[in-house]
Amino acid sequence: MKLAFAGLGVMGFPMAGHLAGAGHEVAVFNRSPEKAQRWAQVHQGRACESARAAAEGAEILFLCVGNDDDVRRVVSEALPVIAPGGIIVDHTTTSARLAREMAALCEAQGRAFVDAPVSGGQAGAEAGQLTVMCGGEAAAFERAAPVIAHFAKAVRLMGSPGAGQLTKMVNQICIAGLVQGLSEGLHFARRAGLDPAEVYEAISKGAAQSWQMDNRWKTMAEDRFDFGFAVDWMRKDLGLVLDEARANGAQLDVTRLVDGFYAEVQAMGGGRWDTSSLVKRLEGREA
Ligand SMILES: NC(=O)c1ccc[n+]([C@@H]2O[C@H](COP(=O)([O-])OP(=O)(O)OC[C@H]3O[C@@H](n4cnc5c(N)ncnc54)[C@H](OP(=O)(O)O)[C@@H]3O)[C@@H](O)[C@H]2O)c1
Repeated sequence: MKLAFAGLGVMGFPMAGHLAGAGHEVAVFNRSPEKAQRWAQVHQGRACESARAAAEGAEILFLCVGNDDDVRRVVSEALPVIAPGGIIVDHTTTSARLAREMAALCEAQGRAFVDAPVSGGQAGAEAGQLTVMCGGEAAAFERAAPVIAHFAKAVRLMGSPGAGQLTKMVNQICIAGLVQGLSEGLHFARRAGLDPAEVYEAISKGAAQSWQMDNRWKTMAEDRFDFGFAVDWMRKDLGLVLDEARANGAQLDVTRLVDGFYAEVQAMGGGRWDTSSLVKRLEGREA
């Protein structure tokens, strides 16, 4: 297929690479042009100097940019030139409102929009093993899903436009409280004079087990916080969550608290640390 990809950051660079590796014709664009040039040196594909040039005639335009405004910018430039009947698949984590706005805009111009935020982090993107939660029309989803599958182990349609973003919000709510619990467990274990490695062996096969415990307990205990999803991104996502909760009436007591804790981690200089750095706040260590 003729594909375009805008946003070649930590996630987008390898995702676009998987599309090219699968034999599709891929044109890429990034705000800072060096990344697009570097991408075209490592992958089969064309680096373009504008979103419009990359999207010209594309059957699917993929996005993985930063936030709502970045998406608006790329879509306004690219939408008129993608193939008639073409699809925009947005992997950026954004508000659900943005997804609904973009879907209406695309529909009015004879194109489709699928909001498709991802989970799985940098490692998942590099391994082509992301989880993708989608919102949009079933027909567009059916056409896009086999292509998304080049970098995903699970792709699911959750409902109408915005439903993918709402599902990603649930994902972030579940992670926020859990990581704080894990941090408190580790902090308490240390204060109690227990060996964190022994504690892990004792409790990690029981009811306290979680992906975060299996993948982060050890690194947290070793004071290592460079494992992917950054605190700055988490705060952006929790901001979207809390806005949505204000609108739908959901009561998110713990999530709101943890968002404030992440703000303290940012103030400690930890904006680029990964989300498990909540434990550093408890232990009061400086960057
Ligand atoms: N990192 C993760 O583990 C992870 C996991 C799940 C979801 N996400 C979400 O995925 C999205 C991307 O994350 P990331 O970690 O890949 O971020 P990132 O490394 O900052 O990448 C974003 C990329 O988008 C580019 N960009 C921004 N605006 C653009 C525009 N108008 N036109 C073209 N390119 C533009 C940026 O270009 P510049 O080079 O100019 O900055 C950058 O290369 C975010 O919404 C994030 O919340 C990330």
